Amino acid sequence: MAESTKKTKSKPKQKMHLAQFLVHGPTYHSLAMWRHPETAKAGYDWSRPELYQHIAKVCERGLFDTVFFADLNYIADTFGGSMGPALRNATQAPEHDPIPLLSFMAAVTKRIGVASTFSVSHSHPFYAARLWASLDHLTEGRAGWNVVTSINSNQAANYGEERQPPGTRYDRAHEFMEVCQKLWHSWDEDAVVMDRENAIFADPDKVHRIEHEGRFFKSRGPLNVIRSPQNGPAILQAGTSPQGQDFAVKYADAIFAIQPRAVDAAAYFASIKGQMADIGRDPDTCKILFGMQPIIGASEAEALEKQDEHNSLVPLEGGMAILSAHLDFDLSKIPPDALMTERQEPELFRMRTRFRKPDGTPMTVAETAARHGQSVSLPQFVGTPTSIADQMEAYIDAVGGDGFMISATHSPGAIEDFVDLIVPELQKRGLFRTNYKGKTQREILTQKD
Ligand SMILES: Cc1cc2nc3c(=O)[nH]c(=O)nc-3n(C[C@H](O)[C@H](O)[C@H](O)COP(=O)(O)O)c2cc1C
Repeated sequence: MAESTKKTKSKPKQKMHLAQFLVHGPTYHSLAMWRHPETAKAGYDWSRPELYQHIAKVCERGLFDTVFFADLNYIADTFGGSMGPALRNATQAPEHDPIPLLSFMAAVTKRIGVASTFSVSHSHPFYAARLWASLDHLTEGRAGWNVVTSINSNQAANYGEERQPPGTRYDRAHEFMEVCQKLWHSWDEDAVVMDRENAIFADPDKVHRIEHEGRFFKSRGPLNVIRSPQNGPAILQAGTSPQGQDFAVKYADAIFAIQPRAVDAAAYFASIKGQMADIGRDPDTCKILFGMQPIIGASEAEALEKQDEHNSLVPLEGGMAILSAHLDFDLSKIPPDALMTERQEPELFRMRTRFRKPDGTPMTVAETAARHGQSVSLPQFVGTPTSIADQMEAYIDAVGGDGFMISATHSPGAIEDFVDLIVPELQKRGLFRTNYKGKTQREILTQKD
């Protein structure tokens, strides 16, 4: 990242926020993960909870804000109309349901947030409101819900539906959240009386029907879950379209963004924080976390060698398959040497800022697919712990805030290295907290020191 390695003298005043990206599967953002020698050596089974409990404890030791699961509900045949490339390359497939893991992880930790993606496109808000309020109770206010709308045709087909156009998709999402919020508020804070002597468990005057009748949903309410510590989970978001940004600006406590170049991240950051101010929200109540993939070595040369080793473990077919799935567009239909930025297919306007090299040069289809298979186009920060801390500091200086979503090249191993080698370096520079303050996920996301 040439542009982000320029050191500036003034340090950001705010401390960074850090989160750990996870998938309940054999690969996260890196398709090399399942083949990586370090993953194999560690010997954990990705389909068992022990791996995730271990990761949660490590991330809590590193004082991360949260562990965060992506979630997709399909095995894609987008590339070339066949599931072969997805299955051969484990392109975030298989992907087990991450929600049950949140309870396992919360059981072995005390402070770190436990967050997961859950799509609003194929579910009813009553089910979601009940699920997330229950998780918020079980985790004592540490639950975080990444609210996504789904764009992939394979996923829609699994639920017997067609892909929804963006307008409808987000209109439905807004109403979904409106119903969830009404349900979370359907129990007053003091509704549970627990008066054993007079046989009153809850005061019926303090539990309310919601009587929602909208364009997409009906729900009578009330929720049959008492008010949870955060009154519903913390809300995370990752929409990129103008409608997605609108949604995030209204609801999100944190946004996960992918902007490989600091210059694009800065524009995105300013736009989102500006939109928040426009609707009267304090922009500091929502943290923007930029994805990055650290590759740490004892020396610069060793780190570069590790990067080569990692990147060469990703077959181009895997990159083509996962990029096609994420775009919901079959890339086998266009020449591999075509420039992504010059294509006019509407699906290829999505993720546009990921189609350029760090120096701004446009990438071909094959180059973009290779990067996507290695890290879903997250920037790779490569070097010694000091040099990676420099790169993180420079990126945040250039952008203006708030922090990073860390993505591993192998698991476990990479996360431990980050926590043991880079976190202390960030703390030494005054760029990262040295203890948790606050109890709930929302409080930790807004912790300033
Ligand atoms: C960084 C990032 C992470 C995302 N993770 C997921 C995910 O785990 N599951 C999912 O279904 N969609 C995921 N998405 C998709 C978006 O949340 C969003 O629903 C999708 O891009 C369509 O919205 P848009 O039209 O606003 O782009 C992610 C998007 C971004 C940018």
